[in-house]
Amino acid sequence: MSYATNLWYAALWADDLAEGALQSRTICEQPIVFFRGPDGAPVALEDRCAHRFIPLSMGQLCDGAASVECPYHGLRFGTDGACVLNPHGSGRIPATLAVRAYPVVERHTMLWLWMGTETPDPDLIPDFSYLDPGAPGVVSKRDWIEMDVDYQLVIDNLLDLSHASFLHRGVLGDPSTLQCEIAIDGTDSSVTVTRTRSNIAPSKLFDLMFRNDGEAVDTWSIMRWDAPSCLRHEAGICPPGAGRDEGIMVIGTHLVTPSSRGKCIYHVAAVWLGDSPGSDDAEISAQLSALRRYAFDEQDRPILEAQQRAYDLAGGPDSLRPVMLSIDAAPLRARRVLASIIAGEAQDEADTDAGEQVFVTIH
Ligand code: FES
Ligand SMILES: [Fe+2]
Repeated sequence: MSYATNLWYAALWADDLAEGALQSRTICEQPIVFFRGPDGAPVALEDRCAHRFIPLSMGQLCDGAASVECPYHGLRFGTDGACVLNPHGSGRIPATLAVRAYPVVERHTMLWLWMGTETPDPDLIPDFSYLDPGAPGVVSKRDWIEMDVDYQLVIDNLLDLSHASFLHRGVLGDPSTLQCEIAIDGTDSSVTVTRTRSNIAPSKLFDLMFRNDGEAVDTWSIMRWDAPSCLRHEAGICPPGAGRDEGIMVIGTHLVTPSSRGKCIYHVAAVWLGDSPGSDDAEISAQLSALRRYAFDEQDRPILEAQQRAYDLAGGPDSLRPVMLSIDAAPLRARRVLASIIAGEAQDEADTDAGEQVFVTIH
């Protein structure tokens, strides 16, 4: 399976990487070990010893976290991936004795991984600054859910929120609220879907946090996907005709990390913005965390895993051709954008290979 590589992947929440700990993740089918180096900055190395391929994450940090020791025969690798200690024989370290080091950046309380060969540009990390420490609003738990689902099926799910009216009936939507104005926009690396509805019954989640009286509201929802798999969802309600400033809003973060084939890790967090009479911040955070966890883990995950099994049973991701409806326009557009990025990278690689072959021929 191919992945876009010259873009940033959400790897794990920064809080989930404690100093002194080794955390392993499989990202785009590559085993990666994360730890914090001597200065506390995150480090990402190939999680496969160059000697006999044991995961370094089963070993231990040494030299004040300046190296990680393989548990099998004790080779140590520094934060740049190069072997720094061979405890055997003369102790000679062959030049090829190294594991790959990946660029990793800590930003917006997330660790971001770069898997490509181009120079990494941190400015390509999408803006999730509303999660930064000190930003306004009440933040939910920074949560993550393992799913036996291809990451693109999760992106499809998020770019078509019509499913909230059925799958999340009573929690995030209702069939009576299905009809809405939909606008789709995008660039060569993003897709944005805007949904607006007027004078409708509020969803349970929003009603709980707004007036808790079931009275009609206007709603808006703006879901933006940035390649490869970063989504930000702004959703809010306000009294009919009152304008968004008089309502409340939740900004949801959905960072989908492809792991091995047909599996992903779904990182979620949300920030709640607005007044909430009668609730303190801790209550709001707990409600937001619990309802979102319920919706994503107990409602989305089983459906998406069943969808994945349908593909697997039929022979893989290209084995079935879904019949498309109007609601599939945004997911299709995102798939086209991602496919084009992946094809562009493959072409660049082919051009580089051809160039190298010419070079070899001349010599
Ligand atoms: S497998 Fe790592 S040192 Fe031998
Ligand atoms: Fe959902």
